Amino acid sequence: MTKQPDLGQRARLDFALALRQQWARRMYPALVRDSRKRAEHTTDPGTVADAVHRSGVYPWFAWLERTSQKQLWRAVSDAVAAEPEAGPPDVAGPGELQLDPDLELPGWYTDVDIHLQPGGIWSSDDAARVYELGAKLVMLGENDDYVFHRLFVETAVPDRPYRRIVDLGCGFGKSTRPFKAGWPDAEVVGVDLAAPALRLAHRQAAAAHLAIRFLQRDARRTGLESSSVDLVTATMLIHELPTEVLADVLVEASRLLAPGGLLRILDFQPTGDPIRDLAMVEHGRHNNEPYLPRLFAVDVLELCRRAGLADAGWVAFDERGAGRLETASWPERSEWHFPWAVLEARKQEERDA
Ligand SMILES: C[S@@+](CC[C@H](N)C(=O)[O-])C[C@H]1O[C@@H](n2cnc3c(N)ncnc32)[C@H](O)[C@@H]1O
Repeated sequence: MTKQPDLGQRARLDFALALRQQWARRMYPALVRDSRKRAEHTTDPGTVADAVHRSGVYPWFAWLERTSQKQLWRAVSDAVAAEPEAGPPDVAGPGELQLDPDLELPGWYTDVDIHLQPGGIWSSDDAARVYELGAKLVMLGENDDYVFHRLFVETAVPDRPYRRIVDLGCGFGKSTRPFKAGWPDAEVVGVDLAAPALRLAHRQAAAAHLAIRFLQRDARRTGLESSSVDLVTATMLIHELPTEVLADVLVEASRLLAPGGLLRILDFQPTGDPIRDLAMVEHGRHNNEPYLPRLFAVDVLELCRRAGLADAGWVAFDERGAGRLETASWPERSEWHFPWAVLEARKQEERDA
Protein backbone atom coordinates (compact mmCIF):
# COMPACT_ATOMS: atom_id res chain seq x y z
CA MET A 1 0.00 0.00 0.00
CA THR A 2 1.27 3.52 -0.70
CA LYS A 3 3.05 4.98 2.32
CA GLN A 4 2.18 8.43 3.61
CA PRO A 5 4.15 11.23 1.89
CA ASP A 6 6.82 13.03 3.95
CA LEU A 7 6.34 16.61 5.18
CA GLY A 8 7.85 18.31 2.11
CA GLN A 9 5.74 16.28 -0.26
CA ARG A 10 2.69 16.78 1.93
CA ALA A 11 3.24 20.56 1.64
CA ARG A 12 3.34 20.33 -2.17
CA LEU A 13 0.19 18.20 -2.20
CA ASP A 14 -1.54 20.63 0.14
CA PHE A 15 -0.56 23.54 -2.10
CA ALA A 16 -1.92 21.82 -5.21
CA LEU A 17 -5.08 20.97 -3.33
CA ALA A 18 -5.46 24.54 -2.05
CA LEU A 19 -5.23 25.83 -5.63
CA ARG A 20 -7.96 23.42 -6.65
CA GLN A 21 -10.14 24.52 -3.74
CA GLN A 22 -9.56 28.16 -4.65
CA TRP A 23 -10.74 27.38 -8.16
CA ALA A 24 -13.86 25.51 -6.98
CA ARG A 25 -14.87 27.67 -4.01
CA ARG A 26 -13.81 31.20 -5.00
CA MET A 27 -13.42 31.42 -8.76
CA TYR A 28 -16.44 29.35 -9.80
CA PRO A 29 -18.93 31.33 -7.66
CA ALA A 30 -17.40 34.56 -9.00
CA LEU A 31 -17.81 33.28 -12.56
CA VAL A 32 -21.43 32.31 -11.89
CA ARG A 33 -22.27 35.71 -10.36
CA ASP A 34 -20.71 37.62 -13.23
CA SER A 35 -22.20 35.38 -15.94
CA ARG A 36 -25.69 35.59 -14.42
CA LYS A 37 -25.52 39.38 -14.50
CA ARG A 38 -24.42 39.31 -18.14
CA ALA A 39 -26.98 36.67 -19.18
CA GLU A 40 -29.79 38.74 -17.58
CA HIS A 41 -31.85 35.74 -16.43
CA THR A 42 -32.08 34.07 -19.81
CA THR A 43 -31.62 30.30 -19.83
CA ASP A 44 -30.99 30.01 -23.56
CA PRO A 45 -27.80 27.87 -23.70
CA GLY A 46 -26.15 29.96 -26.47
CA THR A 47 -26.71 33.25 -24.62
CA VAL A 48 -25.53 31.72 -21.34
CA ALA A 49 -22.39 30.31 -22.99
CA ASP A 50 -21.68 33.70 -24.51
CA ALA A 51 -22.11 35.39 -21.11
CA VAL A 52 -19.78 32.91 -19.43
CA HIS A 53 -17.12 33.24 -22.13
CA ARG A 54 -17.26 37.06 -22.06
CA SER A 55 -16.79 37.19 -18.29
CA GLY A 56 -13.43 38.57 -17.19
CA VAL A 57 -13.23 35.71 -14.67
CA TYR A 58 -13.51 33.02 -17.34
CA PRO A 59 -9.92 32.95 -18.70
CA TRP A 60 -8.55 32.67 -15.17
CA PHE A 61 -11.11 30.05 -14.22
CA ALA A 62 -10.40 27.89 -17.28
CA TRP A 63 -6.62 28.30 -16.94
CA LEU A 64 -6.61 27.37 -13.26
CA GLU A 65 -8.91 24.43 -13.86
CA ARG A 66 -6.34 22.80 -16.13
CA THR A 67 -3.17 24.06 -14.45
CA SER A 68 -4.16 23.08 -10.92
CA GLN A 69 -5.10 19.59 -12.09
CA LYS A 70 -1.73 19.18 -13.82
CA GLN A 71 0.05 20.48 -10.75
CA LEU A 72 -1.84 18.00 -8.60
CA TRP A 73 -0.74 15.04 -10.71
CA ARG A 74 2.86 16.29 -10.73
CA ALA A 75 2.91 16.56 -6.93
CA VAL A 76 1.25 13.16 -6.56
CA SER A 77 3.64 11.53 -9.07
CA ASP A 78 6.66 12.93 -7.22
CA ALA A 79 5.30 11.73 -3.87
CA VAL A 80 4.75 8.23 -5.25
CA ALA A 81 8.15 8.13 -7.00
CA ALA A 82 9.86 9.06 -3.73
CA GLU A 83 8.29 6.14 -1.89
CA PRO A 84 9.23 2.66 -3.03
CA GLU A 85 6.29 0.28 -3.06
CA ALA A 86 5.80 -1.20 0.40
CA GLY A 87 5.48 -4.98 0.40
CA PRO A 88 5.69 -7.61 -2.33
CA PRO A 89 3.90 -7.00 -5.64
CA ASP A 90 1.44 -9.86 -5.06
CA VAL A 91 0.11 -11.15 -1.79
CA ALA A 92 -1.26 -14.47 -0.74
CA GLY A 93 -4.72 -14.01 0.63
CA PRO A 94 -8.32 -14.52 -0.26
CA GLY A 95 -9.56 -13.56 -3.70
CA GLU A 96 -8.30 -14.08 -7.20
CA LEU A 97 -6.49 -12.07 -9.85
CA GLN A 98 -6.81 -13.06 -13.49
CA LEU A 99 -4.77 -10.96 -15.89
CA ASP A 100 -4.87 -11.32 -19.66
CA PRO A 101 -1.50 -10.46 -21.22
CA ASP A 102 -3.08 -10.78 -24.69
CA LEU A 103 -5.82 -8.25 -24.05
CA GLU A 104 -5.41 -5.42 -26.52
CA LEU A 105 -6.24 -2.07 -24.93
CA PRO A 106 -8.48 0.00 -27.22
CA GLY A 107 -7.09 3.19 -28.80
CA TRP A 108 -9.90 5.37 -27.40
CA TYR A 109 -8.62 4.27 -23.96
CA THR A 110 -4.85 4.60 -24.40
CA ASP A 111 -4.72 7.64 -26.70
CA VAL A 112 -5.96 10.04 -24.01
CA ASP A 113 -4.30 10.81 -20.67
CA ILE A 114 -7.63 10.75 -18.91
CA HIS A 115 -8.11 13.43 -16.18
CA LEU A 116 -4.68 14.72 -17.34
CA GLN A 117 -2.93 11.95 -15.43
CA PRO A 118 0.24 11.20 -17.41
CA GLY A 119 0.11 7.54 -18.48
CA GLY A 120 -3.40 7.01 -17.13
CA ILE A 121 -4.05 4.18 -14.71
CA TRP A 122 -2.99 1.43 -17.11
CA SER A 123 0.63 2.18 -18.10
CA SER A 124 2.60 0.96 -15.03
CA ASP A 125 2.26 -0.10 -11.41
CA ASP A 126 3.45 3.36 -10.36
CA ALA A 127 0.72 4.93 -12.51
CA ALA A 128 -1.87 2.91 -10.59
CA ARG A 129 -0.41 4.10 -7.26
CA VAL A 130 -0.45 7.68 -8.57
CA TYR A 131 -4.12 7.27 -9.45
CA GLU A 132 -4.82 5.82 -6.00
CA LEU A 133 -3.31 8.80 -4.17
CA GLY A 134 -4.76 11.27 -6.69
CA ALA A 135 -8.25 9.79 -6.32
CA LYS A 136 -8.35 10.97 -2.74
CA LEU A 137 -7.09 14.47 -3.49
CA VAL A 138 -8.97 15.12 -6.68
CA MET A 139 -12.25 15.23 -4.75
CA LEU A 140 -10.94 18.38 -3.09
CA GLY A 141 -9.44 16.39 -0.23
CA GLU A 142 -12.83 15.16 0.93
CA ASN A 143 -12.62 11.52 -0.03
CA ASP A 144 -9.93 10.18 2.27
CA ASP A 145 -12.02 7.22 3.39
CA TYR A 146 -13.75 6.81 0.04
CA VAL A 147 -16.94 7.93 1.67
CA PHE A 148 -18.70 8.45 -1.70
CA HIS A 149 -18.33 4.79 -2.53
CA ARG A 150 -19.67 3.64 0.80
CA LEU A 151 -22.57 6.09 0.53
CA PHE A 152 -23.37 4.74 -2.91
CA VAL A 153 -23.54 1.18 -1.61
CA GLU A 154 -25.46 2.13 1.52
CA THR A 155 -28.06 4.44 -0.04
CA ALA A 156 -28.38 3.54 -3.73
CA VAL A 157 -28.24 -0.25 -3.69
CA PRO A 158 -31.32 -2.10 -2.40
CA ASP A 159 -30.59 -4.14 0.70
CA ARG A 160 -31.47 -7.65 -0.49
CA PRO A 161 -29.52 -10.84 -1.11
CA TYR A 162 -27.29 -10.97 -4.21
CA ARG A 163 -25.56 -14.15 -5.34
CA ARG A 164 -23.16 -12.48 -7.75
CA ILE A 165 -22.21 -8.80 -8.05
CA VAL A 166 -20.09 -7.42 -10.89
CA ASP A 167 -18.33 -4.04 -10.65
CA LEU A 168 -17.42 -2.83 -14.15
CA GLY A 169 -14.40 -0.50 -14.43
CA CYS A 170 -13.41 -1.33 -10.85
CA GLY A 171 -10.04 0.47 -10.96
CA PHE A 172 -8.00 -0.35 -7.86
CA GLY A 173 -11.08 -1.79 -6.19
CA LYS A 174 -12.23 1.06 -3.98
CA SER A 175 -15.68 0.79 -5.56
CA THR A 176 -15.66 -3.03 -5.29
CA ARG A 177 -14.61 -3.55 -1.67
CA PRO A 178 -17.78 -2.05 -0.09
CA PHE A 179 -19.87 -4.61 -2.00
CA LYS A 180 -17.95 -7.53 -0.56
CA ALA A 181 -18.04 -5.91 2.87
CA GLY A 182 -21.83 -5.41 2.56
CA TRP A 183 -22.64 -8.82 1.02
CA PRO A 184 -19.96 -11.22 2.33
CA ASP A 185 -21.83 -14.25 0.98
CA ALA A 186 -22.03 -12.90 -2.57
CA GLU A 187 -19.45 -13.66 -5.22
CA VAL A 188 -18.04 -10.23 -6.02
CA VAL A 189 -16.21 -9.69 -9.31
CA GLY A 190 -14.28 -6.57 -10.33
CA VAL A 191 -13.58 -6.05 -14.05
CA ASP A 192 -11.12 -3.56 -15.51
CA LEU A 193 -8.91 -3.06 -18.56
CA ALA A 194 -5.87 -1.96 -16.52
CA ALA A 195 -3.60 -4.72 -15.18
CA PRO A 196 -1.69 -2.36 -12.80
CA ALA A 197 -4.95 -1.18 -11.24
CA LEU A 198 -6.12 -4.77 -10.82
CA ARG A 199 -2.85 -5.83 -9.18
CA LEU A 200 -3.30 -3.02 -6.66
CA ALA A 201 -6.98 -3.93 -6.24
CA HIS A 202 -6.14 -7.57 -5.53
CA ARG A 203 -3.41 -6.64 -3.04
CA GLN A 204 -5.63 -4.21 -1.14
CA ALA A 205 -8.65 -6.53 -1.07
CA ALA A 206 -6.51 -9.44 0.14
CA ALA A 207 -4.98 -7.22 2.84
CA ALA A 208 -8.53 -6.36 3.96
CA HIS A 209 -9.41 -10.11 3.94
CA LEU A 210 -12.03 -9.59 1.24
CA ALA A 211 -12.34 -12.46 -1.24
CA ILE A 212 -12.95 -10.63 -4.51
CA ARG A 213 -12.30 -11.93 -8.04
CA PHE A 214 -10.53 -9.34 -10.19
CA LEU A 215 -10.57 -9.95 -13.95
CA GLN A 216 -8.73 -8.06 -16.65
CA ARG A 217 -11.47 -7.79 -19.25
CA ASP A 218 -13.18 -5.18 -21.36
CA ALA A 219 -16.53 -4.28 -19.78
CA ARG A 220 -18.04 -4.87 -23.24
CA ARG A 221 -16.91 -8.51 -23.19
CA THR A 222 -16.57 -9.80 -19.64
CA GLY A 223 -16.67 -13.48 -20.62
CA LEU A 224 -18.95 -14.21 -17.64
CA GLU A 225 -22.02 -16.41 -18.11
CA SER A 226 -25.29 -14.89 -19.32
CA SER A 227 -28.02 -14.33 -16.69
CA SER A 228 -25.57 -15.17 -13.88
CA VAL A 229 -25.49 -11.82 -12.07
CA ASP A 230 -27.97 -10.20 -9.66
CA LEU A 231 -26.33 -6.76 -9.53
CA VAL A 232 -24.18 -4.99 -12.12
CA THR A 233 -22.60 -1.79 -10.93
CA ALA A 234 -20.07 0.82 -12.07
CA THR A 235 -18.80 4.02 -10.49
CA MET A 236 -17.23 6.79 -12.52
CA LEU A 237 -16.87 4.52 -15.54
CA ILE A 238 -19.41 5.63 -18.09
CA HIS A 239 -18.28 9.27 -18.50
CA GLU A 240 -14.97 7.79 -19.66
CA LEU A 241 -16.57 5.83 -22.52
CA PRO A 242 -17.31 6.86 -26.11
CA THR A 243 -21.06 6.62 -26.73
CA GLU A 244 -20.85 3.47 -28.87
CA VAL A 245 -18.79 1.77 -26.14
CA LEU A 246 -21.29 2.87 -23.48
CA ALA A 247 -24.10 1.31 -25.58
CA ASP A 248 -22.13 -1.96 -25.80
CA VAL A 249 -21.41 -1.94 -22.05
CA LEU A 250 -25.14 -1.59 -21.30
CA VAL A 251 -25.87 -4.50 -23.66
CA GLU A 252 -23.23 -6.57 -21.82
CA ALA A 253 -24.68 -5.59 -18.43
CA SER A 254 -28.12 -6.65 -19.64
CA ARG A 255 -26.74 -9.97 -20.93
CA LEU A 256 -25.09 -10.66 -17.56
CA LEU A 257 -28.14 -9.85 -15.45
CA ALA A 258 -30.58 -12.55 -14.43
CA PRO A 259 -34.24 -11.57 -14.98
CA GLY A 260 -35.13 -8.98 -12.32
CA GLY A 261 -31.43 -8.30 -11.66
CA LEU A 262 -30.41 -4.71 -10.97
CA LEU A 263 -28.17 -2.14 -12.63
CA ARG A 264 -26.79 0.66 -10.41
CA ILE A 265 -24.30 3.11 -11.92
CA LEU A 266 -22.86 6.16 -10.16
CA ASP A 267 -21.78 8.90 -12.57
CA PHE A 268 -22.69 12.44 -13.63
CA GLN A 269 -25.69 14.03 -15.32
CA PRO A 270 -26.81 17.50 -16.44
CA THR A 271 -28.64 19.33 -13.68
CA GLY A 272 -30.73 21.72 -15.77
CA ASP A 273 -28.77 24.74 -14.48
CA PRO A 274 -27.30 26.08 -17.75
CA ILE A 275 -24.14 27.63 -16.23
CA ARG A 276 -23.38 24.60 -14.14
CA ASP A 277 -23.99 22.20 -17.01
CA LEU A 278 -21.82 24.26 -19.35
CA ALA A 279 -19.04 24.31 -16.73
CA MET A 280 -19.25 20.52 -16.45
CA VAL A 281 -19.12 19.96 -20.21
CA GLU A 282 -16.13 22.30 -20.37
CA HIS A 283 -14.55 20.47 -17.44
CA GLY A 284 -14.51 17.45 -19.74
CA ARG A 285 -12.55 19.47 -22.28
CA HIS A 286 -10.19 21.28 -19.89
CA ASN A 287 -9.54 18.14 -17.84
CA ASN A 288 -8.99 15.71 -20.76
CA GLU A 289 -12.20 13.78 -20.35
CA PRO A 290 -13.28 13.89 -23.99
CA TYR A 291 -16.24 11.53 -23.65
CA LEU A 292 -17.88 13.37 -20.75
CA PRO A 293 -19.61 15.97 -22.98
CA ARG A 294 -21.02 13.07 -25.00
CA LEU A 295 -22.52 11.50 -21.89
CA PHE A 296 -24.35 14.78 -21.29
CA ALA A 297 -25.69 14.79 -24.86
CA VAL A 298 -26.86 11.19 -25.20
CA ASP A 299 -30.13 9.70 -23.95
CA VAL A 300 -28.73 7.00 -21.66
CA LEU A 301 -32.22 5.87 -20.67
CA GLU A 302 -33.00 5.10 -24.31
CA LEU A 303 -29.73 3.13 -24.57
CA CYS A 304 -30.85 1.15 -21.52
CA ARG A 305 -34.21 0.39 -23.09
CA ARG A 306 -32.54 -0.77 -26.30
CA ALA A 307 -30.28 -3.03 -24.21
CA GLY A 308 -33.34 -4.74 -22.67
CA LEU A 309 -33.22 -2.90 -19.34
CA ALA A 310 -36.55 -1.77 -17.86
CA ASP A 311 -37.52 1.11 -15.53
CA ALA A 312 -34.39 3.07 -16.36
CA GLY A 313 -34.03 6.41 -14.58
CA TRP A 314 -31.54 8.85 -13.09
CA VAL A 315 -31.73 10.09 -9.52
CA ALA A 316 -29.56 12.78 -7.99
CA PHE A 317 -26.86 11.86 -5.48
CA ASP A 318 -25.43 14.12 -2.77
CA GLU A 319 -21.92 13.02 -1.89
CA ARG A 320 -21.88 15.15 1.30
CA GLY A 321 -23.89 12.67 3.35
CA ALA A 322 -27.40 12.08 2.06
CA GLY A 323 -26.25 9.91 -0.83
CA ARG A 324 -29.09 8.91 -3.15
CA LEU A 325 -31.79 11.59 -3.25
CA GLU A 326 -35.38 10.77 -4.03
CA THR A 327 -35.53 13.24 -6.90
CA ALA A 328 -33.80 14.07 -10.17
CA SER A 329 -32.90 17.55 -8.89
CA TRP A 330 -29.83 18.64 -6.98
CA PRO A 331 -29.64 20.97 -3.96
CA GLU A 332 -28.40 24.54 -4.57
CA ARG A 333 -24.66 24.85 -3.95
CA SER A 334 -22.37 27.73 -4.72
CA GLU A 335 -19.07 25.89 -5.24
CA TRP A 336 -18.05 23.86 -8.27
CA HIS A 337 -18.78 20.20 -7.67
CA PHE A 338 -19.60 17.08 -9.64
CA PRO A 339 -23.30 16.57 -10.46
CA TRP A 340 -23.39 13.03 -9.10
CA ALA A 341 -26.29 10.88 -10.25
CA VAL A 342 -27.33 7.24 -10.03
CA LEU A 343 -28.54 5.37 -13.08
CA GLU A 344 -31.02 2.74 -12.00
CA ALA A 345 -32.52 -0.01 -14.16
CA ARG A 346 -33.66 -3.59 -13.95
CA LYS A 347 -33.31 -6.54 -16.30
CA GLN A 348 -36.61 -7.22 -17.95
CA GLU A 349 -38.50 -10.27 -16.85
CA GLU A 350 -40.62 -12.37 -19.22
CA ARG A 351 -43.80 -10.83 -17.89
CA ASP A 352 -42.51 -7.28 -18.79
CA ALA A 353 -42.29 -8.16 -22.47
C1 LIG B 1 -12.44 6.79 -13.05
S1 LIG B 1 -11.94 5.12 -12.90
C2 LIG B 1 -13.10 4.54 -11.69
C3 LIG B 1 -12.58 3.36 -10.91
C4 LIG B 1 -13.50 2.84 -9.81
N1 LIG B 1 -14.77 2.39 -10.30
C5 LIG B 1 -13.71 3.92 -8.76
O1 LIG B 1 -14.84 4.38 -8.59
O2 LIG B 1 -12.74 4.28 -8.13
C6 LIG B 1 -12.53 4.35 -14.40
C7 LIG B 1 -12.01 2.93 -14.56
O3 LIG B 1 -12.67 2.33 -15.67
C8 LIG B 1 -11.73 1.52 -16.35
N2 LIG B 1 -12.26 1.31 -17.71
C9 LIG B 1 -12.46 2.24 -18.68
N3 LIG B 1 -12.99 1.67 -19.75
C10 LIG B 1 -13.16 0.35 -19.47
C11 LIG B 1 -13.67 -0.76 -20.19
N4 LIG B 1 -14.13 -0.66 -21.45
N5 LIG B 1 -13.66 -1.96 -19.59
C12 LIG B 1 -13.21 -2.12 -18.33
N6 LIG B 1 -12.71 -1.09 -17.60
C13 LIG B 1 -12.69 0.12 -18.17
C14 LIG B 1 -10.45 2.31 -16.26
O4 LIG B 1 -9.31 1.49 -16.48
C15 LIG B 1 -10.52 2.84 -14.84
O5 LIG B 1 -9.93 1.96 -13.93
